[in-house]
Amino acid sequence: MNLIIDEETAVSLETGSACSLENYLALPDHSMDERIARARERLGATTILLGHHYQRDEVIWFADFTGDSYKLSKIAAETDAKYVVFCGVHFMAESADVLGRDEQQVILPDLNAGCSMADMAEISQVEACWEALERLGLTTDLIPLTYMNSTAAIKAFCGERGGLVCTSSNSRAAFEWAFARGKRILFLPDQHLGRNTGYAMGIPLEQMVVWDPWALQGGQVASDLALSRILLWKGHCSVHQRFLPSQVDEIRAKHPGIQVIVHPECRWEVCQKADALGSTERLIKIVEDAPTDTTFAIGTEIHLVNRLAHRFAAQGKRILSLDDHGCLCTTMYRISPQHLAWALENLVDERVVNRIKVRSSVKLWARMALERMLEIG
Ligand code: 13P
Ligand code: SF4
Repeated sequence: MNLIIDEETAVSLETGSACSLENYLALPDHSMDERIARARERLGATTILLGHHYQRDEVIWFADFTGDSYKLSKIAAETDAKYVVFCGVHFMAESADVLGRDEQQVILPDLNAGCSMADMAEISQVEACWEALERLGLTTDLIPLTYMNSTAAIKAFCGERGGLVCTSSNSRAAFEWAFARGKRILFLPDQHLGRNTGYAMGIPLEQMVVWDPWALQGGQVASDLALSRILLWKGHCSVHQRFLPSQVDEIRAKHPGIQVIVHPECRWEVCQKADALGSTERLIKIVEDAPTDTTFAIGTEIHLVNRLAHRFAAQGKRILSLDDHGCLCTTMYRISPQHLAWALENLVDERVVNRIKVRSSVKLWARMALERMLEIG
């Protein structure tokens, strides 16, 4: 395989047809714009391009729809397009495949675009947890509920046991749904979203225990498990975990009157100090609806924060990152314009690359869990 090492040589490839990914990766970002636009045009209505809000500008420009994970899964469930190119991370593309029609094909431009939080719960660990709880007689009134940020196998696990999926935009409705059917919830894999949601519903912190998949019996004694209302899986988002309560205090001292808005994947102590919490879509809406001259500190991924800062500067709204250094989701960042151009140009040549296909045995119950989520809205 010949790698293109300088831009001059690379340019000669620009008019060529789709070739190996390495050749694309050697080209500069800006040289992809025209190619992506051209491929997009040639693919027409056969292809829909979905972009999560954490994607880079050079990728999000080309999205037919942008959204949070709930909105994008809903669009994926409704589209007639033959190809769904998902500019997001692996669990989002999997969910699109589960919800889509059989003849539809979902493409993730870079297969390395995973999610460190989703990786914190493996299906074998979840099965072992359930068995341990079963031995204690605690599964009869236990509803398993998983955050969208999990594998399709875990979604299927929840679906098969009468549970469902939720996102940060409908976690409260999902908890209410679950408490109408059981006494206790097992929430996977984000302890922070689970704790923030439960607390907002009036469940005291003492009634939420953390299940550590690496410790014997989750690191809990049987009596505490029996008294709990929510079992929180010990998982977190490495990006949102970086926001700290001290940062909220510091930014408020520096900018009196500032509005602090954060994603509910942030730790409870940060969420308690914030003015509002919300999914990525909701955070955008809060900024849109705010009066001019409002200053915001936002606790979420830096690409979204920078995009909002740029978009609302003309309206006099000032937007800062809650963390001075900005928190980057490195896996979302993996979807580069080069990967996108490569995937689209291959589609133009009728080659499907990086297809995400969930096994049919998993699909059945994962779909049930996702459909329950779509029903509660
Ligand atoms: P949203 O559903 O709010 O877009 O969140 C997805 C995510 O992965 C946040 O880290
Ligand atoms: Fe996963 Fe966190 Fe990245 Fe969201 S921001 S995709 S939870 S690692």
